[in-house]
Amino acid sequence: VSFTIWVYITLKLNPEVTCVFSSSCLLPCQFQFDSDPVIHWIYLITGDPHIHSYYSNQDQLGHQDQRFKGRTSLFKDQISRGNASLLLRGVKVQDQGRYQCFTSTTGGNQKSFINLKTETPVSEVSISQEGNRITCSSEGIYPEPELTWSTSPPSNMELQDRPRVQQTEEHSSDVPVSNFTWRFNHSQIILTKTEGETSSRVSEEWRKHVEEVSESGSLTLKDLSSTHEGVYTCEARNKEETIISNIFLRISKFFQRLNKCKM
Ligand SMILES: *[C@@H]1O[C@H](CO)[C@@H](O)[C@H](O)[C@H]1NC(C)=O
Repeated sequence: VSFTIWVYITLKLNPEVTCVFSSSCLLPCQFQFDSDPVIHWIYLITGDPHIHSYYSNQDQLGHQDQRFKGRTSLFKDQISRGNASLLLRGVKVQDQGRYQCFTSTTGGNQKSFINLKTETPVSEVSISQEGNRITCSSEGIYPEPELTWSTSPPSNMELQDRPRVQQTEEHSSDVPVSNFTWRFNHSQIILTKTEGETSSRVSEEWRKHVEEVSESGSLTLKDLSSTHEGVYTCEARNKEETIISNIFLRISKFFQRLNKCKM
C-alpha cells in the first residue's frame, strides 16, 4: 500500500512536459488565487536562475536570467483564475531540466515542479533504391531515435549494414560544456568558464570585444580590427575529455562570429 501512495505522490509533484525544439511550450502551474499574488518561475540548476516573476500586478523581469530573455510570458487574463502557467518560446535543448513555480498570496505559499524534456520529432524520411540497396534516411532528430527495418509481409531478410544513427554537429554543440577557455594567439586568455559558475570571466582587455558567450561555448566577438587577426583557441573540458580547436580569424568585416567550440 505504501508503495502505491509513493508512486502517486511522485507523479503528482513532477509532471513531465515534452517540448518540441524551437517551438513554444506551456509549463503548467495552478494555484489558489487571492488578491495581489506573487509568482516566481525558477529553473532548478546551479544558482537557481529566475526565469519570470510577477507581483504588484505586473511582470518583474529585473532579475531574469539572460538565457530566457524575451522568451517567456504569463497569461495575464488567467492569473485571477489561479493559472500561473508559463509560455516558453524558442525551446532549446539546454532548457531541459527541472522548473519550479512558486506562488504566494495572503492565503499562503505554494510550490509545484515541472520536468522539461525536449525533442525534435521525425518530420521527413526519404527512401531510395539503387540496385539491390535500399537507403532510408532522416535528419535533425532528438533524442536519439530507434531504428528498425522490416518487410511486409514479414520475411527473414538479412541486413548487410547495420542501421546507423549518427550524431550531427548541431546537436552535439548544443550540449552545455562545464569548463572552457578561449585564447588568442596561444597565449592571451580571452575568457574562462569553470564548472558551477553561471557566467564566464572575460579578461579586461577583451571585455569590449566579447558580445556573447553561449552555454555550448560559442563566442561572438564585435568591434574587431586588423590587430585581432590570428589564431583563436577553444579548450573545452568535461569529466571524460578535453577538446581543443583552433580557428584562424581573418578580419574582413567589423563583426565576426567564431566557429562553435564543439563538445
Ligand atoms: C492556463 O492558461 C493557458 C493559456 O490560456 C491555457 O492554455 C491552459 O489550459 C490554462 N490552464 C488551465 C488549467 O486552465
